[in-house]
Amino acid sequence: MVKTMTMPKIKPNIYYVGVKHYDRRMFDDLIPLPDGTTYNAYLVVGSEKTALIDAVDGAKLYALIENLAKAKVKTIDYLVSNHTEQDHSEALVQLIDIYPKAMIVTNAKGKENLMVHLHLPEDRFIVKDDGETLSLGDKTLQFFNIPWVHWPETMMTLAQEDKIIFTCDLFGTHLAQSETFVVDEAKTFSSAKRYYAEIMMPFRKLIVKHIKKIEEIDFDMIAPSHGPVHQNPDFIINAYKDWISDDVKNEVVIPYVSMHHSVKEMVEYLTEALIERGIVVKPFNLTVTDIGELAMALVDTATIIIGTPAVLTAAHPSAVYATYLANALRPKAKFATVIGSFGWKSQMVEQIVGMLTRIKPEVLEPVVVKGKMRDEGRKALDKLADTILAKHRELKLL
Ligand code: FEO
Repeated sequence: MVKTMTMPKIKPNIYYVGVKHYDRRMFDDLIPLPDGTTYNAYLVVGSEKTALIDAVDGAKLYALIENLAKAKVKTIDYLVSNHTEQDHSEALVQLIDIYPKAMIVTNAKGKENLMVHLHLPEDRFIVKDDGETLSLGDKTLQFFNIPWVHWPETMMTLAQEDKIIFTCDLFGTHLAQSETFVVDEAKTFSSAKRYYAEIMMPFRKLIVKHIKKIEEIDFDMIAPSHGPVHQNPDFIINAYKDWISDDVKNEVVIPYVSMHHSVKEMVEYLTEALIERGIVVKPFNLTVTDIGELAMALVDTATIIIGTPAVLTAAHPSAVYATYLANALRPKAKFATVIGSFGWKSQMVEQIVGMLTRIKPEVLEPVVVKGKMRDEGRKALDKLADTILAKHRELKLL
């Protein structure tokens, strides 16, 4: 006998109807996705009304429709949009036709964004302010604004009676797995840290406030819009509390590029000098680096050192890109500097340091040599390692 297909139930009458995208390898044409991703959508079936919490990327519309059929949905009254980025909203364009009576529920900024980005019609919206509720009969949805995780309109939805918060991008992971819930905390932690580094880190200070707000809510499950559902909310909240804190670790991250081995030799020398002093070093050869791994390393590091040769007197384009990215992600690093090599003339220190406008680190004495490093260069790198040790000690990192 053929078994009737269904969708995973995460609470009574609440179903996971999202879509796994196992083989997606880039997000926003910017972020590598080594483990694919998911677009989570949840069907909340109340005694009187039914709501769909978030939708999916337009490319996966038909998979969502199939999942809704498997969940035996009769109709949808409300399409809740916690976040207007297209990976969660694009399918709304068709869903409002498939369910012609469904109203899109979002906040004022969400409505504005959906009208701008997807041309959704104004008369299909219900706008909810922070804290307002919506009754589904025996279930009540409550909406909380949590702006800038990841766009200005982001909000979360609480299913009050069932104690689930649907947090959209916040607490997500780009991790496609067959299981609905977290099964491997170590794997999920690593994936969540990469996701935090790439997407959430620029908004660290706002997330501090959001977590305070979240901790005033009565819930026992976090259902984000990417990756597995958290049955143990403390696991992900405690991880975030560590990442968003002002505390840094006794680590030095060295993104570098080397054209004729000179910079590589400097990086290798400095790496050994720092290790000898009890400091954890993470060198990243930018020619072969997964930029997500570099972003993860930036989450905790106390010090960033950019290694670059001079190209037409300026920094190598790969070093410029890594510096631009690091600055945009706004890690909490306290110190930074540049090491490098030039042939004729160099303006790369001024260029790289001038790019660190959002991190605002204390800039340590750079080490720039002409051509291949001599003893003088090695002494300067030893001195830099001593300075980093002293600075890390001042912060009581070791
Ligand atoms: Fe998963 Fe900001 O979209």
